[in-house]
Amino acid sequence: MDENELRLLSTEERRKYYFEKNYRYDANLYYRYSGTVNSKFTKEAHKSELIFYYHKIEKGLSLKNIRPFFGVNAVDYLIDSLYQYVEKYGFDHIAGIAYGNIKKYFDFHKNLDDNGLLLPLKDKFNKLIGTKVDINIISERDYGINIIKKSDVQIENNFKELCFSRHTIRQFTEENVELETIYKAVEIAQTTPSVCNRQASRIHIIEDKKIMEDALRFQNGNTGFENDINKLLVVTSELNDFKTSNERNQPYIDGGMYAMTLIYALHSLGLGTCPLNLALDSDLDMELKKEIDIPENQVLIMMIALGHIPEKLPVAASKKLAIEEVVRVVN
Ligand SMILES: Cc1cc2nc3c(=O)[nH]c(=O)nc-3n(C[C@H](O)[C@H](O)[C@H](O)COP(=O)(O)O)c2cc1C
Repeated sequence: MDENELRLLSTEERRKYYFEKNYRYDANLYYRYSGTVNSKFTKEAHKSELIFYYHKIEKGLSLKNIRPFFGVNAVDYLIDSLYQYVEKYGFDHIAGIAYGNIKKYFDFHKNLDDNGLLLPLKDKFNKLIGTKVDINIISERDYGINIIKKSDVQIENNFKELCFSRHTIRQFTEENVELETIYKAVEIAQTTPSVCNRQASRIHIIEDKKIMEDALRFQNGNTGFENDINKLLVVTSELNDFKTSNERNQPYIDGGMYAMTLIYALHSLGLGTCPLNLALDSDLDMELKKEIDIPENQVLIMMIALGHIPEKLPVAASKKLAIEEVVRVVN
């Protein structure tokens, strides 16, 4: 519909037009780039399929009561999928983890499989994968389970302090933010949970001031501090890592969680951050991706403006709701 036709519509009709257009755009991208139709159509999608299946093994092995022969069909499928992956892309780190997890599955069943139920699977595994293995590229800690102690997870509780001391910062000094510091924050953010540990989040760091200016033009909430931003991050989710239409919202959930950890990580390293929405019309979404070279198969989650914090500065009060306004106990 062109500008003139749009102008003839009532406000309600125009809103409906944009509503449908934007949803159609999202749905099309998801349909084209997720594994909805073919879970192996790119290396990333195939990798994600391996993670999906090998995670069933490591998850199963981490339960209190492990069910003998759990997920045997998934293991069968994983062996074939791993074989196809290795044939196409070679034996890389992900293949190694899949391999290690399958081995762990067989190890677990060593004394449980009196009737040799798993023998055909083992044979297939050895025949298909046996010769292609380079075990040196993975460590034992990368697959199966790792035993931890309660004291390992119950660390000195300063998370409350971290959360209560974070504010959205809209004033930055001229001091440069080193890329090394951002990498450190990304390393922390990599701990973010993700669906089946598929880790679809990607970070684009914009350094160049001209590119930053062009990118910020697409964003409607940076007026007044756009020139002080030292680095601009764009958080995206890789659609190839998602599988069926049931997961259509997962890119945004995983991406949002990742962005939150990243903001806390940057904050913990002493930097100021301002999350910037990327609630864009589909045409602008396409244009922005082109402008900053973000592949079509990644969806935009948000931008994060960052920089060093001045000695003293105002922040918006941004009062939070009371607990009873957000919590409901179901009983
Ligand atoms: C996804 C998201 C998008 C945001 N977009 C903007 C924005 O465009 N411009 C801006 O100045 N602040 C933006 N904010 C910051 C919010 O206004 C801020 O988080 C909120 O007022 C609470 O304040 P606090 O972060 O200091 O607790 C955004 C926050 C989030 C989570």
